[in-house]
Amino acid sequence: MGLIPKEFIDELLSRVDIVEVIDARVPLKKSGREYSACCPFHEEKTPSFTVSPAKQFYHCFGCGAHGTAIGFLMEYEHLDFVETVHELARAAGLTVPRSGIETPPAPRVDQDSYALLQQAAEFYRKQLREHDAQGRANVAGGRTPGATTEAKRAVDYLKGRGLTGEIAAEYGVGYAPSGWSHLAQAFPAAHPALVKLGLLVEKEGGGVYDRFRERVMFPIHDQRGRVIGFGGRVLGDDTPKYLNSPESPVFHKGRELYGLYQARKNLRKIERLLVVEGYMDVLALAQYGIRNAVATLGTATTREHLERIFRVAPEVVFCFDGDRAGREAAWRALEAALPLMHEGRQARFLFLPEGEDPDTLVRKEGQAVFEARVGAAMPLSEFLYEGLAKQTDIRTMDGRARLVELARPLLGRLPDGVFRHMMVTRLGEIVHINTGILSGLLGLGGAVKPPRSGERQGVRRQGDFTGEAGAPMSPVRRAIALLLHRPALAQTAGDPRRFAGIEIAGTDILLRLLELLQAQPHLNTAALLERWRDTPHSQHLLKLAQWQSLLKEEEWQTEFLGALAQIERQGLEARREYLIGRSRIAPLSAEEKRELNELLSAPP
Ligand code: UTP
Ligand code: MN
Repeated sequence: MGLIPKEFIDELLSRVDIVEVIDARVPLKKSGREYSACCPFHEEKTPSFTVSPAKQFYHCFGCGAHGTAIGFLMEYEHLDFVETVHELARAAGLTVPRSGIETPPAPRVDQDSYALLQQAAEFYRKQLREHDAQGRANVAGGRTPGATTEAKRAVDYLKGRGLTGEIAAEYGVGYAPSGWSHLAQAFPAAHPALVKLGLLVEKEGGGVYDRFRERVMFPIHDQRGRVIGFGGRVLGDDTPKYLNSPESPVFHKGRELYGLYQARKNLRKIERLLVVEGYMDVLALAQYGIRNAVATLGTATTREHLERIFRVAPEVVFCFDGDRAGREAAWRALEAALPLMHEGRQARFLFLPEGEDPDTLVRKEGQAVFEARVGAAMPLSEFLYEGLAKQTDIRTMDGRARLVELARPLLGRLPDGVFRHMMVTRLGEIVHINTGILSGLLGLGGAVKPPRSGERQGVRRQGDFTGEAGAPMSPVRRAIALLLHRPALAQTAGDPRRFAGIEIAGTDILLRLLELLQAQPHLNTAALLERWRDTPHSQHLLKLAQWQSLLKEEEWQTEFLGALAQIERQGLEARREYLIGRSRIAPLSAEEKRELNELLSAPP
């Protein structure tokens, strides 16, 4: 995927109207200057979900969900960022440009590919159904000659594995007959396209043949239910046991999850997703009423998989074999999951008894016992420390020191937050070191800075400019909040470069905001927020964008300029303290002395 230029996101967000985007999915009612509805992200009877056309921003007072039109679609439709931008662009009649030399242009995916894959899936299904239609086999068109007994073999195979017709039909299971050109003959006009999609293979001397032969076919769907590829299993013990569609313009193994479409279709709200290894595992679990299982397609779990999973559900449980290979695969999944462990997310690990997979186990034990196993799966923290503890002897001091060293890079990959703090605390318990000291040793300092002097003066009015705990907002935060709500204020700020050297948390963002808005005055709140998406500041900015102002119209500008003046003063104060401190250690340069003199003579 090429990068989408920021300018395009700006353009897009100035063209789409968040009210329309949301109203098309969740009908909105006008209330005052805003719109409201019952929140689609949590259960409620009275509406606390509001959409602001001015800010192009939504916010739920009930559950705290919030964001731009892009954020809404990502949450609501479970799309990723790029998919969302494409979706919105399509609706707005814009074409998404691509910037960035780092990736070649993606091959154009035409709607025909999806239609063709759908037809192929139907073709394979029909081959399996031939068996049931045996009595009137010769009446229907499209029947593959000689396939009837073969189809019976396939049906018998699936029945032998305990699969019901309902589940097979729901997941679109089909059959690719033996012989080299059944599919090719069924779609004579589509050979080049089917080659591109991997269902036909080009012969060296020209011509094509069917890639899938004599295999049970599992269509793989994308999140929207479109067929994008296939997995095919032999009926017996031939190898390879499974053959999958090769990568194609519409099929990317490292990103897709088998069964996700059906899970989402069957479950209104998904609390957790199970990640299993095989197609048959997903089907067997579904048959036993466990509808939240998905499978990777013969690959390790990637970060992209996990991003997709966490957009759909807050918890993931990985099911692996209890053997060595299974544990190793689990460890790789753990490593992929670490950077994504934001607050409220959970990852756990279920190790199955030797020789079992979810398919065999659920058939043996039934739904309740299997679900109990899932419920008792090992938390990520436990698996991580257990894995590391095996590499050292934690009864000795050296061993415990080594454990800290082993844990350091892993903990460093966790996002800063409550979960990481808990992981450090847990490590402290294991190695008998106080958490504070351990944090220092690990070099994982929190981002929270102590409030600086001078911030108290800012409060003018109860209820306005107070943060979550009722503490006053710093002038930097105030200035940013005001700007996010009224981007036009930037034009009154004067030269932003005077904030350049100031080392107060957030001043760099304020500076960027001011420069950005002075150069591009048309940017709206949503466009500003999108500039910071996927940066560590995004959450803070989103929070500030939700702040509800009690200011009167004429007070906005005074408040804004007041905050800026205060930041400048704080900056000078900090500089003065710094120079005084330095002068006690080493002599200041002539330039610095002059500066300090000036700072000391100016009124604070
Ligand atoms: P397994 O070998 O564990 O098979 O492969 P399984 O799912 O239990 O299959 P059954 O029960 O014998 O039918 C797990 C997954 O790994 C991929 C497939 O996606 C399979 O579902 N795989 C396996 C391949 O891609 N190719 C292979 O040859 C084998
Ligand atoms: Mn199996």
